Amino acid sequence: MSTDETQQAGPSTPSRKRSRWDLDDAAENEPVEPTQRSSVLKKRVKSKPPTDSGATSRSHTPTAPPPRVSVEHTLRRPTHSIYVPPRTLHPPIVPSRSVYCYERLNSIEEGSYGVVFRARDKETGDIVALKKLKLEEEKHGFPITALREVNALMTCRHENVVGIREVVVGDTLTQVFIVMDFIEHDLKTLLTVMPSPFLQSEVKTLMLQLLSAVAYCHERWILHRDLKTSNLLMNNRGTIKVADFGLARRYGDPVGVGGLTQLVVTLWYRAPEILLGATTYSTAVDMWSVGCIFAELLLKEPLFQAKGEIELISMIFKLLGPPTSTTWPEYSSLPLAKTINLPAPHTPQLRQRFPHISTAGLDLLSQLLTYDPEERITAAEALKHPYFSESPYPKHPDLFGSFPSAAAGEKYVPPYIYIRTPY
Ligand SMILES: Nc1ncnc2c1ncn2[C@@H]1O[C@H](COP(=O)(O)OP(=O)(O)O)[C@@H](O)[C@H]1O
Ligand SMILES: [Mg+2]
Repeated sequence: MSTDETQQAGPSTPSRKRSRWDLDDAAENEPVEPTQRSSVLKKRVKSKPPTDSGATSRSHTPTAPPPRVSVEHTLRRPTHSIYVPPRTLHPPIVPSRSVYCYERLNSIEEGSYGVVFRARDKETGDIVALKKLKLEEEKHGFPITALREVNALMTCRHENVVGIREVVVGDTLTQVFIVMDFIEHDLKTLLTVMPSPFLQSEVKTLMLQLLSAVAYCHERWILHRDLKTSNLLMNNRGTIKVADFGLARRYGDPVGVGGLTQLVVTLWYRAPEILLGATTYSTAVDMWSVGCIFAELLLKEPLFQAKGEIELISMIFKLLGPPTSTTWPEYSSLPLAKTINLPAPHTPQLRQRFPHISTAGLDLLSQLLTYDPEERITAAEALKHPYFSESPYPKHPDLFGSFPSAAAGEKYVPPYIYIRTPY
């Protein structure tokens, strides 16, 4: 309720008797096609009993004089309202269902923002994942991060983004769960148990899916801000789903004093501009993370396994060569740039680190791991990169092998053999 409405209602809200205004509103709420509207209006007018004065008989207060509405006046009612969807078409406000609609099966993982369970919908039998939001320690009401997570998931409905089904509640106000489709694997776990890295054709398929999800989010002004392999889920049909929007936010919104928080993106996947203290950053931070994920898919291990920020910066400098005024003009104006001792210039070591990737593949990787955020490739551009249209072509997701799902409690029998088509 707006302040105005509150003030009108007075200090104690009176019981909401239906006012005439409400009744009119209710009548308007009957869904009516714009084309039918004029005939309905005419019918209403026709159905009014004729009176000498032309006044309507719809008076609910016998003592009050009947309102004087002429036929001409009724027909000239503002036409713009017919373009406003009737209230029945607005999303209904309904209470959240109870978590008891689901049968708890097993817990999948306890992450930084919540516990994730596997559960069964008692009504449909569907297997789902329930992420319990951590609200117990909240002193300031429902956290904005949780609202952003739900909002981002609802905004980014895409084949390669995990599907949110509903939000359910438990017995207390601190028990709130996001219900999602259950996806068998996360890429981090999968990469650890696979005996050999993904094939080039598989990496291409996974990258295309990841890029199309990221492009979709960015088109809708959503920054993920925590892209990494443990937040990429993969089902047994070779489809990736981006998950964990716990750090996501809209980037078009005005930001408060101090800019955007630097407490984003898990260290190994964090873009250099955030490491160097930038408080205005954008979609390019996600693209750096995508570059780290691309490298990890090829290497089968994380690219920058640094223990701290300083070590990470020096690892980046070592791999890519230190930034220069040409490769990153803004570098020297970043808040922490003065605290960093730049190493002597040397040639990048990307080729040595990725000896088997094609020239096009290396080009895409270096365009993702580009220092200058302005120059870093966007998701939409990356989707059109020649790497994806050269041989070996992206493998059809149906041809991906299936794996035992650790999240569903299925056991890997060592040595685990992953049988797949050899191209
Ligand atoms: N929809 C899902 N289906 C299956 N497993 C999931 C699902 N969502 C999350 N998980 C598992 O739970 C882990 C933690 O979930 P995540 O949303 O990343 O929470 P956190 O914010 O705590 O990192 C993921 O890494 C993944 O292994
Ligand atoms: Mg996570």
